[in-house]
Amino acid sequence: MAREGSGVSGRLLAGRWAEGSVLLREFLRAPFRTATVVASSPALAAAMTDVVADYDAPVVVELGPGTGAFTRPIQERLGGSGRHIALEINPQLARPLARRCSAVEVVEADARDLPRTLAVRGLTSCDVVVSGLPWAAMPATAIHPPLVTVVAESLADDGVYTQFTYAWSRRLPPARRQLADLRAHFGEVQVSSVIWANFPPAFVYRCRRPLPSIHNGHDPRLRHP
Ligand SMILES: C[S@@+](CC[C@H](N)C(=O)[O-])C[C@H]1O[C@@H](n2cnc3c(N)ncnc32)[C@H](O)[C@@H]1O
Repeated sequence: MAREGSGVSGRLLAGRWAEGSVLLREFLRAPFRTATVVASSPALAAAMTDVVADYDAPVVVELGPGTGAFTRPIQERLGGSGRHIALEINPQLARPLARRCSAVEVVEADARDLPRTLAVRGLTSCDVVVSGLPWAAMPATAIHPPLVTVVAESLADDGVYTQFTYAWSRRLPPARRQLADLRAHFGEVQVSSVIWANFPPAFVYRCRRPLPSIHNGHDPRLRHP
């Protein structure tokens, strides 16, 4: 038994090591876009994806799946129901993920292509958006519409958006701006307690009730200078 157990944990460790080396390689190639050399931990993945279980056969969209830290728990929570669409901008990460996870519709695309990705599949909205994107991928003002607007507009009225931020950076201006953006686009933004079992420790934002003001062209971020 002990030998079998250590074999399983050995395989898990080897798997995480292999994922880590892929992320490191991609980080060296595109540091701002990849943003990390360590995949999110199972504890952070659980906090990011537990909302999937609240829906019956939902359409789940994953942004920036990388090596799949959130992909597996989403699949487990779907248990063969619903749809799981993952938008990954880096083909070096998207292609292996598509090979490993045949039940996931992996799309090599920018997260901002979400509306078109849904439309070509005959979908008008999605129920859950789980984001693993780094800040650098979603500056609030540089590109229009900002990603948070795209997400809010793509969600069903009772949909939910989850996003994480690292605890060390929580008080820095970009993180504060990001939280203000979330509050401007969603009627409810829950902030989790710190997830210490992640490197680095992180918070999860769970955002519900996408605000209708987004849909009529009014920029609600102006309320949050
Ligand atoms: C910080 S890694 C997160 C990977 C994984 N979700 C995790 O938590 O371990 C960010 C991922 O987002 C991808 N990415 C960055 N910008 C993107 C964009 N605009 N659209 C889609 N994917 C993007 C990167 O290629 C990378 O795989």
